[in-house]
Amino acid sequence: MEKIAIYPGSFDPPTNGHLDLIERGLKLFDKVIIAILCNPAKASSGLFAVEERIEMLNEIFAGQDHIEVDTHYGLLVDYAVKRDASAILRGLRAVSDFEYEFQMALMNRRLKRQIQTVFLMSGFKWIFTSSSIVKEAASFGGDVESMVPPIVNRKLKEKYGTA
Ligand code: PNS
Repeated sequence: MEKIAIYPGSFDPPTNGHLDLIERGLKLFDKVIIAILCNPAKASSGLFAVEERIEMLNEIFAGQDHIEVDTHYGLLVDYAVKRDASAILRGLRAVSDFEYEFQMALMNRRLKRQIQTVFLMSGFKWIFTSSSIVKEAASFGGDVESMVPPIVNRKLKEKYGTA
């Protein structure tokens, strides 16, 4: 049976850190479904519309059959069950990620015991990369080319009028 993992997140926008984690996830799972979900803490501060995030991710992973891009409004664990996934994939960069991730994983386990959360360490190169820090730098005209896929770099420049 195909082993499926859900890689959930805001992806506003996708970074090279996300790509690195998906690559690592595919060493453990047959298929990774990238699920754009609502993070209530970030909902009002989204830079890219969900449709734009889908478009960027679809371009980044075009032609890769074992990667799917989708979106879901509601509980992550319900989506995981709906998609026959056995695991939720999350990346850990620094200790600062741990508390939030730990809480979320335990809540998700309380809600659906059969879904396991699998944490993978992101590559050392991406340890300080986050969508938020990339947006902040790009908004002031900073060069983030080495931290995001080319399409994201282009879209950030369009958004902030620094093209
Ligand atoms: O990239 P992010 O913003 O850290 O991802 C957080 C996300 C979207 C995975 C999380 O907020 C989430 O799972 N949202 C959906 C609602 C849900 O199931 N919350 C967790 C249990 S209450």
